Amino acid sequence: MLSFILFYCAVFVNGKICKDPKLAKADDFFTSGLNVGGNVFPKFGFTLKILNLINNMPGLNTLGISIARADLEPQGVVPLHMHPRAAELITVLLEGTLYAGFLVADGANFFKSVVRFIYNVGHKKATFLAFYNSQNPGTMAIPGAILASEPPNIDDVLAKSFLLNKTQIAKLRTKFS
Ligand SMILES: *[C@@H]1O[C@H](CO)[C@@H](O)[C@H](O)[C@H]1NC(C)=O
Repeated sequence: MLSFILFYCAVFVNGKICKDPKLAKADDFFTSGLNVGGNVFPKFGFTLKILNLINNMPGLNTLGISIARADLEPQGVVPLHMHPRAAELITVLLEGTLYAGFLVADGANFFKSVVRFIYNVGHKKATFLAFYNSQNPGTMAIPGAILASEPPNIDDVLAKSFLLNKTQIAKLRTKFS
């Protein structure tokens, strides 16, 4: 079994090739930048910076851990989303009041890829750190995935799924283009 795992690791782990340990550098285990916010999502009132294996720390490969920072304006929301490969733990830095919720298909069986949101219900900007039990948690923002996918979802399917008509779907699409 062990030899299988080593063989597999030599090919792919979460989309990345394992580096020969003899070639590892100190930089593979270092990153910085959580002192400031990340990508700005003005329509939702938050910024996000995820430090993961893919872009920041090759040394995380196979270690099952990564970290992110988000800054939310008052009433800002990290909209309904999921991380297909990770459970998530968040902590508010210093002060702030966040409402974090998640949806489960079956209350008796919690799985890690639940749909969740985080909403700033306080009166001040709030920052949180998020920890993931994956070196490559992945993110799918549900509204954008539904309304702005490439290629687009079929209008008929969306209209029937949301009990709306195609004019209403077209209007919704414009908000995510
Ligand atoms: C779509 O639904 C809206 C809201 O009910 C309605 O005003 C509009 O006339 C409908 N459009 C079509 C093409 O049915």
